[in-house]
Amino acid sequence: EKVVLAYSGGLDTSIIIPWLKENYDIEVIAVCANVGQEENMEEVYEKALKSGASKAYVDDVSEEFVTETIFKAIKAEAKYEGKYLLGTSLARPIIAKKLVDVAHIEGAKYICHGCTGKGNDQVRFEASIAALDPSIKIIAPWRIWDIKSREDAIEYAQKHNIPITVTKEKIYSVDANLWHISTEGGDIEHLENEHQNHVYKKCLPVEEACDEAEYVEIHFEKGVPTKVNQKELSPVEIIKELNNIGAKHGIGVIDIVENRLVGMKSRGIYETPGGTILYEGHNILESATLDKEALHFKQMVSLKYGELIYNGLWYSKLRESIDAFIEQTQQNVSGSVKIKLYKGFMKPAGIFTTNALYDESISSFGESDLYDHKDAQGFINLFTLPLKIQSMKDEKINNN
Ligand code: ARG
Ligand code: SIN
Repeated sequence: EKVVLAYSGGLDTSIIIPWLKENYDIEVIAVCANVGQEENMEEVYEKALKSGASKAYVDDVSEEFVTETIFKAIKAEAKYEGKYLLGTSLARPIIAKKLVDVAHIEGAKYICHGCTGKGNDQVRFEASIAALDPSIKIIAPWRIWDIKSREDAIEYAQKHNIPITVTKEKIYSVDANLWHISTEGGDIEHLENEHQNHVYKKCLPVEEACDEAEYVEIHFEKGVPTKVNQKELSPVEIIKELNNIGAKHGIGVIDIVENRLVGMKSRGIYETPGGTILYEGHNILESATLDKEALHFKQMVSLKYGELIYNGLWYSKLRESIDAFIEQTQQNVSGSVKIKLYKGFMKPAGIFTTNALYDESISSFGESDLYDHKDAQGFINLFTLPLKIQSMKDEKINNN
């Protein structure tokens, strides 16, 4: 029998390897999907084998990550609870797909992950796997084993000759990928505490951000970013380039208390520098190119979309259906947007598109053929009729 393990190279997933062999008498295939976490992938590969995996895959899926989930999220401007750009949530379905693909190649019936029993990630992995291959069985050690603390984990590692890279005390729970870095746990768990600058791994703290403002120009084709500062870049390069630019200016840091799917509230610090610029650029361009009714309806749909991504329902009919709608709204969202960046702030600095529904001759204060000021009087009479009727009714009731 074989089990495919979602492997990161960290202590937590490394000790799972001997534990699986001990408890299931099973062959472990470690899979590390590279979603842009900037780890040394050769070391991760070696470590998997040293920890006892019979085979290891380290596969770069960052391109799929960008084109399959991130670009769709940008087009929808999907957020969770108004703020979170879903960095972890968007990567999970891509990683899960890789795990299932390897399980099929290897003929493995089991997939194992190292998520805790308290979080969203366990749900996202398992929901994605269930949708992609319902016959696969899940092993989730953190929900069943006796290892309860970091000390337990280190002891278990030492007993099983797992190489431990002595890093400074791991205070936070971190998830890093191309789109974002999340930091949870430690002193952040106390709501009274301001988060400290040392949590940042991508962004400069606003006090240390560039003293010069900088312009960035992003070009979109049907809602998808294709160029940065007039330069055509690959999907992955676009995110990297904007991450670098945004990070210098301290753009894209949020500190939120969110509602996890598993019932509890939790606090997290998320750094999404490039993503935050892309959402803003997209939002500005769409404001000029998408008509009012479609835009307002899209805002409602986007709320639902963000929620379903957060809840792990990427591989669902609802997600596909919403995508079809979003795609339709993006047909004219093409053009460029210039944004000025300065110490954590973004200022719109120019919209360049031939698709704008904004028409200077109509919107400006002067006269135009299409808009007769006198028409407004009749419009307001009808528009305010319900208010007049209500008011008259109230007066009658009050006088009785
Ligand atoms: N709370 C965020 C989310 O649910 C981030 C989760 C980070 N995951 C992790 N394994 N550290 O999307
Ligand atoms: C975990 O519990 O594995 C990380 C946090 C989360 O999944 O929400």
